[in-house]
Amino acid sequence: MRWYSIGLVLALGAAGGAAAQCDPGEERIRFSHVTAETGHPKGEAALLLAQRINEDLDGRACMEVYPRSSLFNDDDVLPAMLRGEVEMAAPSLSKFGAYTSQLQVFDLPFLFEDILAVEEFQYSPEGAALKLSMEGEGLIGLEFWHNGMKQFSANRPLQMPGDAEGLVFRIQPSAVLDAQMQALGAEGVPMPFSAVYDALEAGEVDAQENTWSNIYTQSFHTVQDGVTESNHGIIDYLVVTSADWWNGLDAGLRDDIAQILLEVTHERNRFAFELGELNKIRVRQDGSTIRALSEEERAAWVAALAPVWDQFRGEIGDDLIAAAERAEGGI
Ligand code: LMR
Repeated sequence: MRWYSIGLVLALGAAGGAAAQCDPGEERIRFSHVTAETGHPKGEAALLLAQRINEDLDGRACMEVYPRSSLFNDDDVLPAMLRGEVEMAAPSLSKFGAYTSQLQVFDLPFLFEDILAVEEFQYSPEGAALKLSMEGEGLIGLEFWHNGMKQFSANRPLQMPGDAEGLVFRIQPSAVLDAQMQALGAEGVPMPFSAVYDALEAGEVDAQENTWSNIYTQSFHTVQDGVTESNHGIIDYLVVTSADWWNGLDAGLRDDIAQILLEVTHERNRFAFELGELNKIRVRQDGSTIRALSEEERAAWVAALAPVWDQFRGEIGDDLIAAAERAEGGI
C-alpha cells in the first residue's frame, strides 16, 4: 500500500488517483462518506480506520476513504455497495428505510436523552440485533458510530413548536422525520447532505435539523437566523458492508478487519460528544445565536411531537421502542 494524503487523493480525483493506493494482491476497501474528513466524528473515525488498516494489514488489505460525497452520496451508496462498487460506508441511521423499518426507532423524536443512552441501547441485545436486520437485503451492519444530538435551525427564531408552522425543512429521507415535520405543521423535503447549504442559502428551504458537528462543518449556521438547542433527536451511523463481499473475504482477514474496526469504534466514539461540544462553541464564536429551551418550552416540543411515536409504533415494534426507552444515558 502506498499511503497518499487524503488531499492528494482528492486532487487526483475519486476514480483514477485514489485507486493507485493499493498494491497488487491487497484487498481494496473503498470507504465512502458524505461529511467533512477532519473535525467531524465520522470523518475522523474513517481516517483512523484507514490508517490502522493500511498500517496493520499492509500487504493484505488497503483502505481508501472518499469523504464529502466525492464517491457517492447517501442516496446512491447502498445500491452501489450491492453492485460491488464500494465496500464500506457509514450512512446515518435515518437512511436505511428502503432496507428495514426497524432502524426507524432511532428517528423517534425525544426518545434518547443523550448520546450515552443511544450507546446503551446499541449494546443491548435488541439494539445489537439491529446490525443484522438487513442481512436478507444483502447488507451487514458492523459497528455503530456516533455523531450527536440534533438541533433545529431556521430563517426565523424557533422557540416554541408553533414557530415551525409553515416552514419548509430539509430532512434526511425518512418517513419518521417527514411525519415529525407534519406534526409541527411544517413540510419536510428530503435532500442529499451535499445540497443542504446551497438550498438554505438560496432560500429553497427555510430550515433544517442536524448535529453541531454537521452544522458547523457545513456552515449551515451562517445562512440561518440561529440554532435552537432542541436536542430532539440523534444522528448516528451504521458502518455497513455488503454480505457478499464480507462473507467472501478470507476468514483470517475478515477477523482482523473486524477487530481493527471494533478498536477504532471504541477509540473514536468516545470523542463524538466532545467534538460536538467544540463545534457548538465554534458556531457561537462565529456570532450565531444559540437559543436554549426552558423546561416548559421543551415540554411543549415533546408534546407536539409525541403523536409521531404512535404513527410508527406498529412498524417499529413495541418491544424495540421499550428497549430503547430503558436506556438512560447520563451525560
Ligand atoms: C445528513 O444527511 O444530514 C446526515 O446524515 C449526514 C451525515 O452523514 O451525518
